[in-house]
Amino acid sequence: MNTRTETEEAVLSSVRPQQEEVDDICAVAEMLLKAVNESGTAQGMVVGSVARNTWISGDRDIDVFMLYPPDMSRETLEEDGIILGRSIASRFGGLFVEKYAEHPPYVNATISGFDVDLVPCYAVTDAAHIQSAVDRTPFHTRYIQSHIGGLEDDVLLMKRFSKAGGVYGSDLMTEGFAGYLCELLVLKYGGFRPLIQAGQSWQTGQTIDIAHHQGKQFDDPLVVIDPVDPNRNVAASVSKAQLGGEFIELCRGYCASPPNRDYFFPPAKPDITQAAFAEIVTERGTGIYSISFPPTPPHQIPDIVVPQLRRTTAGIASLLERNGFVINRYDAVMEDERCYLLFEMLVDRLPPRSTRIRVRPLIMA
Ligand code: CTP
Ligand code: MG
Repeated sequence: MNTRTETEEAVLSSVRPQQEEVDDICAVAEMLLKAVNESGTAQGMVVGSVARNTWISGDRDIDVFMLYPPDMSRETLEEDGIILGRSIASRFGGLFVEKYAEHPPYVNATISGFDVDLVPCYAVTDAAHIQSAVDRTPFHTRYIQSHIGGLEDDVLLMKRFSKAGGVYGSDLMTEGFAGYLCELLVLKYGGFRPLIQAGQSWQTGQTIDIAHHQGKQFDDPLVVIDPVDPNRNVAASVSKAQLGGEFIELCRGYCASPPNRDYFFPPAKPDITQAAFAEIVTERGTGIYSISFPPTPPHQIPDIVVPQLRRTTAGIASLLERNGFVINRYDAVMEDERCYLLFEMLVDRLPPRSTRIRVRPLIMA
């Protein structure tokens, strides 16, 4: 049953946007929609959590999609999309950047204090026949808008819970749960608490097929078939470590303990002093190394840079192993616009001659 504890209600009162905040965001969204529609070339649509009433108070992002006719060439869509994005951004904001990821290039602007994405896409008639990576998004928005009624607060709890646990976000750095995935899971189980209760006993390979498509098989740790596109796993971004090592454990901990606000707002971890860090390193007895550098422009989008960092780190680790060093673990992160390659080594020093030794038969005198 979907009942809420006092703690959950208290969490909700700090994550649910107040009317004034809603009015504020809606006014800006409407102004942008009007501007897209007036262009005459594209039709505007607000997507994402703002359109579905599932955004957390204090979040300042607005996703405005610019829908173009499906028979338009990709070249024209990209050209017109970026020109329209630029003109809206400079009319209302001033500060903007152009971003190039998997999908058509788009404009990211700061408008009235909001972080606005102006994204061109094709207005296809069926989400299974998309032409660009973002064409499904309007279908997601319509699906959630027509199904989520009454469960918006549960989505807020799920998002806050996942954020606090470090598993919110489908980017390649986080490898966790996207907003749309949180919404689908809440829908499937009928609320936050039933979802967390079910999550306790998920196994790797857990499959959820809300729309009963019963089609394509996926080989991912968590499979949530997209109700608007049977060929897509909405949970493809969720890694095994984030599912089993984190989310399922969080669900178990949450259900086993009395209502605890820390699952939504974890107490801040105090900064570690250099001396304390040195002590931990000495205690572990391993060698900890990091290579850090800024990403080279224009390649600064984490979803593009992080996979390259991971490949580089794995390459260096294997080179080290081939030369006699022993690695305990390695990782790559991009944070505050800096890249870090990290290595923890069980053996980080070799005897002076070790790398030059050729195996020679031992001649006994
Ligand atoms: N989207 C996208 N490209 C962007 C911005 C958004 O494709 N530059 C799409 C995402 O794929 C998603 C939707 O727009 O379907 C909203 O993205 P996002 O803001 O990341 O998620 P929300 O569901 O809005 O969740 P949140 O509350 O965290 O903002
Ligand atoms: Mg959003």
